[in-house]
Amino acid sequence: MMNKLLSFFAISVVIVSCRSKHEHKPQMGSVDNIIPQPQLVEVFPDQIGFYSDGTLVVSGSDFMSNSWDLAKDWFENAGLHIYQSDSDKSQLLFTLSDEIKGDETYSLKVAEDQIQISASTPKGLYRGWTTLRLMIPVTAESGGCSNGFYLPVVSIDDFPDFEHRGLLLDCCRHFMEPDFVKKMIDNLSIHKMNVLHWHLTEDQGWRVEIDSYPRLTEVGAWRTETDGSTYGGFYSKETIKEIIEYAVARHVEIIPEIEVPGHSQAALASYPWLGCTGEEMLVANKWGVFKDIYCPGNDSTLRFLESVFDEVCELFPSTKIHIGGDEAPKVRWASCDKCQKRIKDEGLADENELQTWVIEHVGEYLAYKGKTIIGWDEILEGGLPEGAAVQSWRGMDGAIEGVHLGTDVIASPTSHCYLDYPLSNTDLEEIYSFNPIPEEASHGPGRVIGGECNMWSERAPQHLVESKVFPRAIGLAEVLWSGTDITLAEGAYDRFIKRLDVHVNRLGIIGVDYGLESVPVSMSLTLDEGDDILYANITPAGSYIKGTAKFVTIDGVESESKSFNLPIEITETGEVVATINYRGRVLERTENFPVSYHAGLYKEISLGYEPSQYYTGGGNYALVDGKIGSMDFRDGVWQGKQGEDLRVVIDLSEIIEIDNFSMNFYLYQDAWIFAPRSLKFMVSDNGEEYSKVSVVENEEVFEKDERQTIINFNSGSLKGVSGRYVKVVVENAGPCPYWHAAATEPTWLFVDEIVVNAAD
Ligand code: ACM
Ligand code: ZN
Repeated sequence: MMNKLLSFFAISVVIVSCRSKHEHKPQMGSVDNIIPQPQLVEVFPDQIGFYSDGTLVVSGSDFMSNSWDLAKDWFENAGLHIYQSDSDKSQLLFTLSDEIKGDETYSLKVAEDQIQISASTPKGLYRGWTTLRLMIPVTAESGGCSNGFYLPVVSIDDFPDFEHRGLLLDCCRHFMEPDFVKKMIDNLSIHKMNVLHWHLTEDQGWRVEIDSYPRLTEVGAWRTETDGSTYGGFYSKETIKEIIEYAVARHVEIIPEIEVPGHSQAALASYPWLGCTGEEMLVANKWGVFKDIYCPGNDSTLRFLESVFDEVCELFPSTKIHIGGDEAPKVRWASCDKCQKRIKDEGLADENELQTWVIEHVGEYLAYKGKTIIGWDEILEGGLPEGAAVQSWRGMDGAIEGVHLGTDVIASPTSHCYLDYPLSNTDLEEIYSFNPIPEEASHGPGRVIGGECNMWSERAPQHLVESKVFPRAIGLAEVLWSGTDITLAEGAYDRFIKRLDVHVNRLGIIGVDYGLESVPVSMSLTLDEGDDILYANITPAGSYIKGTAKFVTIDGVESESKSFNLPIEITETGEVVATINYRGRVLERTENFPVSYHAGLYKEISLGYEPSQYYTGGGNYALVDGKIGSMDFRDGVWQGKQGEDLRVVIDLSEIIEIDNFSMNFYLYQDAWIFAPRSLKFMVSDNGEEYSKVSVVENEEVFEKDERQTIINFNSGSLKGVSGRYVKVVVENAGPCPYWHAAATEPTWLFVDEIVVNAAD
């Protein structure tokens, strides 16, 4: 004790002498870069702030419990010498106080002689410590504080607006290494996210070891890819315990998701008797929704689920278990004698009520073990299972209904929270604008307890995941911690971006492979009618995007590279290529914009249908704007229409000789997007009498095709054909065929352009 006090005294003397001599320049800290924005921050710029000369005497660290080791490691890696003391006059004091209400609430006071973090729980102290970390200069992350740091005098009182702030990580479609999962937990906790919703069972892989059913991981964790290779992996119980311990120290709760009754093909592949047909099947090797699901008519299936949940409950300390419940087609149940008998015996109305019945069965079983369940919003369809919380993903209707029914709701609608969606669909600004409590959900008896970002991994193997999660999840972290009073205030997003601008430097140092926050550049095209030159303009999304653009013809001839916002001349078909950097990071990233140069460009066009409001293709001229769609059907260039034929008339403004017509269609049968059944091309000189010049029949429209691709249809050479008006009729494929998961549902047509190639 004496020694510690003595050393503390000696250190104080050093501080004074250092300051008077100004020998070393300490790193200047700030409250300007804290994300999420604390609730109350008061800065006293005129007062002399806190200075550490490279040492830090800490007391009360025991109150942080097992999180102190992390904080100590961090300070030491920052270059600081840490001394522990029992004195409440130390430089960094942690205190537990019953006066503070809320288990994550903390106060952080910086004065000339001391930094004090107070909370009522170790969790609250940990949240306060993450704030302190973000106040200490970024260079600390790479050991840059050996000469000390300075903080202004400040008083922060902070607490979360929502208690549930999570990220769903799908480790099934793609397996993620345990170290990667830990790193994700670390990066969530830095941003005060407190839930890892760990998606562990799927059609394409079962990832959690279950002792009583070893085939779940011997068989169910491995799939044979379409190229014949084997893909998979699973988490042993030992590994899971390690990951949980890691999360506990960072005050992140892991909520496991074990899907019932759908998304269970990997389990059925392991034990075929779990399904209605009992037929052998393979672990799925493509994406989508599959109709072979657990058979709730079968008592053995229920016993299986109970055993699985026994082991899951033993493994995971969380009081919550996510039981899935989404996307469970009922076709097998409809023709299963056991399921039909169950419906009859239990007095259920139909298969939807059978779904509620099986989830209630699991829910009751788990309630008996002291656990509550969460399910996706489909669990509302046969009546809300007793005691279940609802996670609303198909918009916010499920959230509103859940609140009205009196239960807890987690909001993660596809409109704002799906990180597997491309930036063209969901960018950071969109996420930041999210309101988890729309007016209709603002009055109980239930309530929205928080939200999650969902990182589904069909198209995201591990190496792509971080760049999709960050920085977008940071936007949601702020929405959920700071609350919409802060995030929806005038100018809030600009202020957030200013903080993020500094914060990404920290992320870069600690090795977060953060991606873009928005579509980095957009291209506009304008036609100069006088000389028929098309001008492309590349506009960066903000000043943080730097780079150049050029045009490359289909023969590979390249124009000069130009700075963004300078017009690029186009007189033939090819693509505009933009090369970009992002916030000082060289991404070696290019964005390509294919362009078709043709005789129909920007001619008057009328559509005999209303395109989907979600897939307009970019306005009136979408089909004659020169823009060719990419492999992402949500890129804004593709125009989509469900269940209808497309009828289009283009006025070329004068009679011209036509060589051929060409149209691309998106094909992605799993997403209900089919090629057309037929195309008819007609021309007219006067816009009244048309003659049919080409009919293209697609005999293979309902051939099963597993690709996600673009297919081209061409009228063929139309030598001698001329006309001013062009009429195109594209016939929709019709309802999804019998073999499709969505049999009888209307199919989509996706088209990007009607290319009118004039004769030379
Ligand atoms: C989901 O995205 N199927 C919950
Ligand atoms: Zn059945």
